[in-house]
Amino acid sequence: MNLDLDALVGDIAAEMSEREERGAVASYIPQLAHVDPRRFGIAVMLADGTTHVGGDADEAFSIQSISKVFTLTLALGKVGDALWRRVGREPSGNPFNSIVQLEAEKGIPRNPFINAGAIVVTDTLLGGHAPKEAIGEILRFVRHVADDDTIFIDKAVARSETATGHRNVALANYMHAFGNLEHAPELTLGVYFHQCAIAMSCRQLAAAGRFLALDGRHPTAGGRVVSSERARRINALMLTCGHYDGSGDFAFRVGLPAKSGVGGGILAIVPGKASIAVWSPGLNRVGNSMLGALALERLARATGWSVFAP
Ligand code: DON
Repeated sequence: MNLDLDALVGDIAAEMSEREERGAVASYIPQLAHVDPRRFGIAVMLADGTTHVGGDADEAFSIQSISKVFTLTLALGKVGDALWRRVGREPSGNPFNSIVQLEAEKGIPRNPFINAGAIVVTDTLLGGHAPKEAIGEILRFVRHVADDDTIFIDKAVARSETATGHRNVALANYMHAFGNLEHAPELTLGVYFHQCAIAMSCRQLAAAGRFLALDGRHPTAGGRVVSSERARRINALMLTCGHYDGSGDFAFRVGLPAKSGVGGGILAIVPGKASIAVWSPGLNRVGNSMLGALALERLARATGWSVFAP
């Protein structure tokens, strides 16, 4: 197929900028409520590093839950398969901040991408560190995989969530009561809120995900970020759990491993071919970017990219 990706990405950005129905910007983190819902960005970075961008692809946004992909990668590097004693690997079928399931399953979160699971993952990164060091380790890792030292943490977003994240406080305390949190909830949450407040543009995010499209290899530094088996497993979890209770619908429509965040970003991986980041702040009713998913659906259909393609 002779693909003009520049034209395709441009067409998608143009279509998305004109759409009236854009979903609702997350407001439970007050700082995110200020973001302009008309923003839309897309970056497609091919395995060889060639990049095609459209719309607001160079504007930084709050990656929120997309950070969970990077902390999971780090935690698996640190504790290996022992992580799976504390977190499951099944789709939750419940909202990302649900408490109900956690009670039924005795403090073991369903997967590392719902909030409870991500808080446990972050707790493992805190082991042996002060919170500031753990935050630094996470930021350094994201900068390393993206090969970009300008990536930063938006302190205003971190403060905003620290002041209002009562549900996460409840989840963390609940897991602590079950013995599934090794640190004081406020310490683990301090790190978690900062990782969620990492700000990146679509171009930077696509670059940061490229190791997952390259079967675990670092795109520029040589060597590996993770083994190929681990890269495949992280992609598998993104496909099955990356969009919470919207994961089935997303896999049906797009057919690619992907992780969403309430900032309106989505990172999607086409194994062997590309890393894609889209951003549109308006969310659907399960908290995933409405136009981000639609843009990826358009892109996947036009390119034929799918993990189910022969
Ligand atoms: O913990 C929270 O609620 C947010 N920092 C992240 C949630 C999130 O991004 C869910 N994604 N769709």
